[in-house]
Formats: sequence, structure tokens, C-alpha cells
Amino acid sequence: MRKILVLIGALALVGCTSAQPLAVDLTPSAERGLKLSQQSGCASCHGADFGGGTGPTWQGIIGQSVAFKGGSSGVVDRDYLVEAIKYPDKKLRVGYSVAMPYNNLTDDQISDIVDYIEALSQ
Ligand code: HEC
Repeated sequence: MRKILVLIGALALVGCTSAQPLAVDLTPSAERGLKLSQQSGCASCHGADFGGGTGPTWQGIIGQSVAFKGGSSGVVDRDYLVEAIKYPDKKLRVGYSVAMPYNNLTDDQISDIVDYIEALSQ
């Protein structure tokens, strides 16, 4: 019994320090999106918890107004996120000097990542 309690305690500790950025309930596709984002180098610019860094935050981004270089602006929704991942240089946001690199994610993988980004706005 004592051993089991120690084990549970150890697991709880691991849970607290794991790489899982935010304690949100993720659907299977959003879970895949999180893993893809970590494996594809997105976290290096968007933050270990996707709270932003060299690139903008993904937390609470759905519905936000964003300004683009050249004077136009838009509201972040699913279509915008898909486009931003597929064609990183199509719309450039004001306030960021580093260019986001192109990736070779498939449409399905991009969809999973966008599911994850949407989960960060729930
Ligand atoms: C070298 C840094 C860098 C890397 C790596 C990177 N990004 Fe970005 N990302 C940026 C910057 C800077 C912007 C904002 C400027 C712009 O519009 O290009 C951006 C914008 C975005 C946006 C639009 C969000 C918004 O607020 O406008 C999405 C979505 C996004 N990135 C997803 C990704 C994904 C998914 C990956 C991994 C495959 C990734 N990024 C990798 C730097 C990066």
C-alpha cells in the first residue's frame, strides 16, 4: 500500500512538470496538433507554452483583431490560422520582424494544429 502511494505521488509530480503547456482538455486531433507543434519547431518561436515569443501567442487568439503590414487588418479565425500556417509569408503581422519559415505540414496536420490552437482559446 505504502509503495502504491509513493508511486501515485511520483506520478503526480511528473504530471506537474510535464511538457503539457496548458491544462486544457484536448480532443484527439488537438492532442495530435500539440505534439506536431512541439515536434515541428513551432514552440521555439511561439513559446514552450505557446504563450508567444519571437512569434505571436496562440493563447486566446481566436477572435482577436490583428494588423498586417501594408495597412490591412483581420480577425483571427480558423481560416486565417490555416492560411497563416500554409503560407507564412502571405500576411505579415505588424510588430514582428522575424519571418515565419515555411513548413511541409500536410493539410490534415495543419488542421490538427489549428484544433489545438482553438483549444487554447476555450
Ligand atoms: C522562426 C520563428 C517561427 C517559427 C519556427 C514558427 N513561427 Fe509561426 N509565426 C512567427 C511570426 C514572427 C509570426 C507573425 C508574423 C507573421 O505574420 O509572419 C507567426 C505567425 C503564425 C501564425 C499566425 C498567428 C497570428 O497571430 O497571426 C500561426 C497560426 C503560426 N505562426 C503557426 C506556426 C506553426 C504551426 C509553426 C510550426 C510549424 C510555426 N508557426 C513556426 C514565427 C515563427
